[in-house]
Amino acid sequence: MAIISSKQSQKPEPDKNGVAQKPKQERSRPSEAGESLLKSAANPEEMGKQEESLRPQKLADYIGQKDLKDVLEIAIKAAKARKETLDHLLLYGPPGLGKTTMALILASEMGVGCKITTAPALERPRDIAGLLVNLQPGDVLFIDEIHRLPRVTEEILYPAMEDFRLDITIGKGQSARTRSIPLQRFTLVGATTRVGALTSPLRDRFGIIQRLRFYELEELTPIVKRTAEILSTPITDDGAIEIARRARGTPRIANRLLRRVRDYVEVKRKGSAITGAIASEALELFNVDPCGLDWTDRRLLTVMIENFSGKPVGLDTLAAATGEDAQTIEEVYEPYLLQIGYLQRTPRGRIPTPAAWKHLGYQPPDSQLALLH
Ligand SMILES: Nc1ncnc2c1ncn2[C@@H]1O[C@H](COP(=O)(O)OP(=O)(O)OP(=O)(O)O)[C@@H](O)[C@H]1O
Ligand SMILES: [Mg+2]
Repeated sequence: MAIISSKQSQKPEPDKNGVAQKPKQERSRPSEAGESLLKSAANPEEMGKQEESLRPQKLADYIGQKDLKDVLEIAIKAAKARKETLDHLLLYGPPGLGKTTMALILASEMGVGCKITTAPALERPRDIAGLLVNLQPGDVLFIDEIHRLPRVTEEILYPAMEDFRLDITIGKGQSARTRSIPLQRFTLVGATTRVGALTSPLRDRFGIIQRLRFYELEELTPIVKRTAEILSTPITDDGAIEIARRARGTPRIANRLLRRVRDYVEVKRKGSAITGAIASEALELFNVDPCGLDWTDRRLLTVMIENFSGKPVGLDTLAAATGEDAQTIEEVYEPYLLQIGYLQRTPRGRIPTPAAWKHLGYQPPDSQLALLH
């Protein structure tokens, strides 16, 4: 499978597996900022390479997300049987659940190339036009953070997605003329953490729209084991479960925690396999609690409890009170807190649930209990 990056100027160096890295981005993404506590001290490029080497390459190796896999398996088989390209696909869900991985798997299963880009890199019409005209028949074009597409780019994509046609305007004013260039048939795979931020004309042009959900413990545990095997790190079943339990239902975090525990074992318990006890000892040290909450999660909940007495708090107020970015709170922290039932969204704002009060060692007030019942 050929993987090519969109930006010639940033032609990526393939890693040892021949997998090209995603174009580097200068700004800090919410997913990265949000997971800062769980990051190793290694530089981001090194982290990126490690992540690439852990990506499953085939649909069969992609653990969990059964609904998504079922849908895609059928779509792939049908498209292959008809010798057609796959329908355009939109994947959405919190960071680190496997959207990029799935796009790469799709291309490999279809036996086509995959061009990877990210919406903010498609600033000028010629950026997207250049990509589109260079697509080979059937190629997958993967656009990450697709909710951030500039308007002009989005408008170029409409006819490209629908009729495989590139409409470009040449000249200005009265002499302006539109030219249509036929394109090869391709599959656009868009990924986003914020599906609500997509315009409806764009959303409507995707034939398949799928949400990725947080992973269950039974799904994350084999992911931890698989990664441990790739990293040649001995681990017991209990060790894998303990890491999976604290990984917030997210493979990227599971892999990251495993690396931290591996460091811990190598330094403190040389020669030992990762057991449940060692994993929990190490993760306590890294401030990841048994529910997988890190320092920032606990701070968000603590501020809601202590400063606002558990009354509804608006997102911006919460951001100001904690010094966190509002978008990061919404995209990185909240989804998991909502999922495990520690946070509720009400029309008047966010409130921590009694379970959250108890988890942090507070006694929920009766008024708060009443609010929920
Ligand atoms: N189903 C899976 N099975 C095994 N490993 C997985 C799975 N999904 C994700 N991973 C691992 O998690 C890491 C993160 O996945 P990926 O980069 O695809 O997430 P993402 O959804 O694209 O995140 P973002 O929104 O931040 O771009 C990958 O390196 C991969 O090793
Ligand atoms: Mg991604």
